Amino acid sequence: MSLTEPPPPAAGPDRVGDDAADRLRDRISADSLTTRRDYLRIVATVSGGLAVGGLGVATGILHRHGDSEGLPPAKKVTDHLAPGESVAFRFPGDEDRALAVRLSDGSLVGYSAVCTHLACAVLWREDRGADGELYCPCHEGVFDARSGEVTAGPPPRPLPRIFLTEQSDGSVWAVATARAGEPTREALCRQFGKSRPETARALGCPGAERATGSRRT
Ligand code: FES
Repeated sequence: MSLTEPPPPAAGPDRVGDDAADRLRDRISADSLTTRRDYLRIVATVSGGLAVGGLGVATGILHRHGDSEGLPPAKKVTDHLAPGESVAFRFPGDEDRALAVRLSDGSLVGYSAVCTHLACAVLWREDRGADGELYCPCHEGVFDARSGEVTAGPPPRPLPRIFLTEQSDGSVWAVATARAGEPTREALCRQFGKSRPETARALGCPGAERATGSRRT
């Protein structure tokens, strides 16, 4: 056979090799189809879950931070919180995700860690912005670390506040909550009004003066 002659047609064993290659190709196609289908199903499930969660929050079906009228029991959050650090905890209920953050200037702030867009978990990012940021990775939602106000992304409301106190031993406690956008005094009066009349009076809560005065007379 000269070097220019075409190669002879494939014999039996090579044909078997071609069949195996075809079967392998079919298998790979089927596998990648399955993988793609599974991937799409996972994406649809996660997206559906988020949408349902967000709809639930939006329509009030699901529990929302600060929904309780009364004063929740105070809860110890941590023994100590250093500047720039954050700690995750649950408050006021066991299912209410929350974050306490010590800002670089020593201020202590607390928020619900449930994004007001579609209820993803909000994270503390010390490395973002001048004061650090509260960041939701689901759709790039950003909240101001000092106020909880929305500064970027799709969240429609600020993060609900959690009121924290610090004891002389450095321990941090959660004592009350606010609904998203609820003014501080209104939130505290709503919760302290009945159970702590003296505190409510000191805060100037509507009705507190009258209630305290009527007990005196
Ligand atoms: Fe969409 Fe947080 S869930 S930005």
